[in-house]
Amino acid sequence: HTPELTPTDEAPECAIAVDVLRATSTMATVLAAGGEAVQVFSDLDLLMEVSDKWPAEKRLRAGERGGGKVAGFELGNSPLDCTAELVQGKRLFISTTNGTRALQRIQDAPIVLAAALINRAAVVQFLLEKQPETVWIVGSGWEGSFSLEDTVCAGAIAHSIWQQTNSPLEELAGNDEVSSAIALYSQWQNDLLGLFHQASHGQRLLRLKCLEDLKYCSQTDILDVLPIQQEPGVLKSQNK
Ligand code: MLT
Repeated sequence: HTPELTPTDEAPECAIAVDVLRATSTMATVLAAGGEAVQVFSDLDLLMEVSDKWPAEKRLRAGERGGGKVAGFELGNSPLDCTAELVQGKRLFISTTNGTRALQRIQDAPIVLAAALINRAAVVQFLLEKQPETVWIVGSGWEGSFSLEDTVCAGAIAHSIWQQTNSPLEELAGNDEVSSAIALYSQWQNDLLGLFHQASHGQRLLRLKCLEDLKYCSQTDILDVLPIQQEPGVLKSQNK
């Protein structure tokens, strides 16, 4: 089963959304901190409509556009704001510029996951146990464009699978996207924060004074949490 970065028309058994800076890092953080679920929306009005029907004491609303918090929302998209105290037992209704859209685009796959560097090991462990026939790793990018931080995360996932299965790298031959992602990760694995400083969205977040978010999101394997879709657009932490 070959991880792919450029999806073909054929639907995969497992689709993984990646938005390291910062949507999938925030989702993993919320679920690890005891959030009941994360529900994603591309549209802010729809988010409001659906979340209005949810008990107020059991919901949090997060809205991000252009890296900033949307007016009227409790949260923007900083994972550091998602403390256990705040999110415990609550559902996070979230809309971000790119990450939540990526999740919506893949929501018809039989298995949908959200991955970031901070929960990379949990995602890899799931893939090794479940052995899905085909896997897409879908980088969210920025408004449709390539993203260094999402590609390095895809590389981190593929690199770990490659190492743990002892499979020859040639088995990935023919999938140049995966080989490139692994090469990117191999080069930067000891300085992921340095890579984020070069990434265009990393620079955007630095202009918005989000250095602490960059530092947090550049850590690898710190949260043992697997955000997995339960119904379209709703992700929960898989019980271990
Ligand atoms: C997104 O979904 O576009 C990103 O997570 C933006 C951000 O860093 O807040």
